Amino acid sequence: MLLIRNLHAGYGDVPVLWGVDLKVEHGDIACLVGSNGAGKTTLLRALSGLLPPNSGSIVFEGRELAGAEPERILGAGIAHVPEGRRLFSAMSVRDNLLMGAYLRRDGAHAIGRDLERMYGLFPILRERQAQDAGTLSGGEQQMCAVARGLMSAPRLLVIDELSLGLAPAVVDQLCDALRRLNQEGLTLLVVEQDVATALELAQHAFVMDTGRVTRSGSSETLRNDPAIREAYLGAI
Ligand SMILES: Nc1ncnc2c1ncn2[C@@H]1O[C@H](COP(=O)(O)OP(=O)(O)OP(=O)(O)O)[C@@H](O)[C@H]1O
Ligand SMILES: [Mg+2]
Repeated sequence: MLLIRNLHAGYGDVPVLWGVDLKVEHGDIACLVGSNGAGKTTLLRALSGLLPPNSGSIVFEGRELAGAEPERILGAGIAHVPEGRRLFSAMSVRDNLLMGAYLRRDGAHAIGRDLERMYGLFPILRERQAQDAGTLSGGEQQMCAVARGLMSAPRLLVIDELSLGLAPAVVDQLCDALRRLNQEGLTLLVVEQDVATALELAQHAFVMDTGRVTRSGSSETLRNDPAIREAYLGAI
């Protein structure tokens, strides 16, 4: 579904991605882990068009998207839940969710049905729908950010830092919702700093180190990899 080949990107003269290769199959939950500064956010920004890559290829469902505008990438079916959530804090929860649907051309009825679907997935958002997003708790904000991404009706949802700063019970709830969405056909690529959580959620995992993917495989394989256990899982 998604094939990233030899992707190079950076900020000004400073290279950050040094030839990233990554492949996500349709129907997968894939996770991307790696130490701080490895380039995970930079990769997601390049994927969603927020940072034009210097070279390399991003093919999604057979279409080359490297360097395309963010709106074209969203329109192609990739939604990005950014690091830090970036909600419109002075807008209501409901309006934040509707903003996620702004590019859709399938009409108010379909959008209204998806809004209901979001409230079904995260019932707390229904209760909070008229409240300004800036007044939500961290967990509620993350649910709102995920739901806003889903409101574009993507086929691939990309999430940066799923669990950062959230209580374990909220993380479980989010992971359950993502599994349910995946069973309904959504493909996911999730950056997650907690490697144990990432490997439990995902079927496939990629490890990034200084701008490259240095390891990849099934979550099971990586969980049993001594180097991963030592570096990320607190085992020796
Ligand atoms: N806007 C920017 N301008 C210049 N350099 C940046 C910018 N954003 C990130 N960088 C640099 O790019 C490198 C990779 O950062 P990035 O945010 O992609 O890492 P990350 O893997 O997401 O880290 P974290 O786990 O801390 O979120 C870092 O060295 C960072 O300082
Ligand atoms: Mg990051």
